[in-house]
Amino acid sequence: MSLRNLIKPGMGLVAVGLVIGALGFWGTQNILHATSSDAFCMTCHAQHSLKDEVMASAHGNNAMGIVAQCQDCHLPPGQIDYLVKKIIVSKDVIGYLTIDGFETQEWLEENRKEQAELARDYIRSIDSASCQSCHTNIYENQPEAMKKMAKRMHAKNFEKAPEDRKTCIDCHKGVAHPYPR
Ligand code: HEC
Ligand code: HEC
Ligand code: HEC
Ligand code: HEC
Repeated sequence: MSLRNLIKPGMGLVAVGLVIGALGFWGTQNILHATSSDAFCMTCHAQHSLKDEVMASAHGNNAMGIVAQCQDCHLPPGQIDYLVKKIIVSKDVIGYLTIDGFETQEWLEENRKEQAELARDYIRSIDSASCQSCHTNIYENQPEAMKKMAKRMHAKNFEKAPEDRKTCIDCHKGVAHPYPR
């Protein structure tokens, strides 16, 4: 029996954990916490270069020593929304069990464009709220240190009616991973 066959049934436990977690919202805080570390994400994305990519980007390699975690960008900041996304992420349990070769880097490279679009659709659907929980002064109280060009672009976007505004990731692609061509 290959290692993969041994590990895969174990992931069923993750599925069960997520379902149990969904049953009692207040009781789930610890489970949510445990399932929100980079280590949790990397259990399935184990052989993917995603963490290294973050560490090589401005979100892992900056003068401030700040490392953005997977969930800081990929999960919304609000708790209810957060739980909803968790349950949706559990669709990935099925994907993990059924997609052939998912855990390999080759799979990631072959499917990166499609996966990037899915990730973008989700972040767009929350109006890049995850980005804005760290980057709070993009549109108002812009810091002196922000580049003039950036200030101008951000101000111009903010002048528009809310429904016409672009969201962060419409202009910023590949902030943590190499954006697929
Ligand atoms: C149970 C295994 C598993 C875990 C744990 C897991 N993933 Fe995934 N992830 C997958 C699979 C499988 C896919 C491909 C799904 C597909 O295309 O059907 C995927 C795709 C993705 C995508 C791209 C597609 C999309 O829907 O956005 C992102 C982004 C992602 N995962 C982020 C994360 C983050 C962040 C975590 C930690 C909070 C995480 N994953 C934890 C299995 C997992
Ligand atoms: C955990 C907090 C955090 C989150 C979440 C976050 N950022 Fe950042 N971001 C940073 C830090 C820290 C830097 C580095 C600042 C520096 O080096 O001066 C940075 C730098 C940047 C830069 C400039 C460097 C570059 O790569 O061009 C852009 C653009 C940016 N972030 C956009 C985003 C977008 C878009 C999102 C959401 C997908 C996001 N950030 C989410 C903290 C965060
Ligand atoms: C209309 C397009 C547009 C939108 C929308 C936009 N940005 Fe930018 N942003 C830019 C441009 C252009 C720059 C300057 C590019 C450069 O310096 O590489 C920039 C620069 C930045 C920088 C670097 C600032 C510096 O001084 O180096 C950060 C951080 C950033 N944006 C974050 C965000 C976040 C977070 C959002 C969403 C709240 C956002 N941006 C929305 C166009 C946009
Ligand atoms: C600073 C924000 C940020 C961080 C931190 C981050 N991601 Fe992403 N991720 C994105 C964005 C935005 C996309 C959409 C594609 C793009 O613009 O590169 C994405 C795309 C993805 C994809 C789809 C494939 C691809 O390369 O586009 C996967 C899978 C993924 N991320 C998983 C992770 C995992 C796992 C971690 C933690 C090790 C992580 N991400 C950390 C912002 C982030």
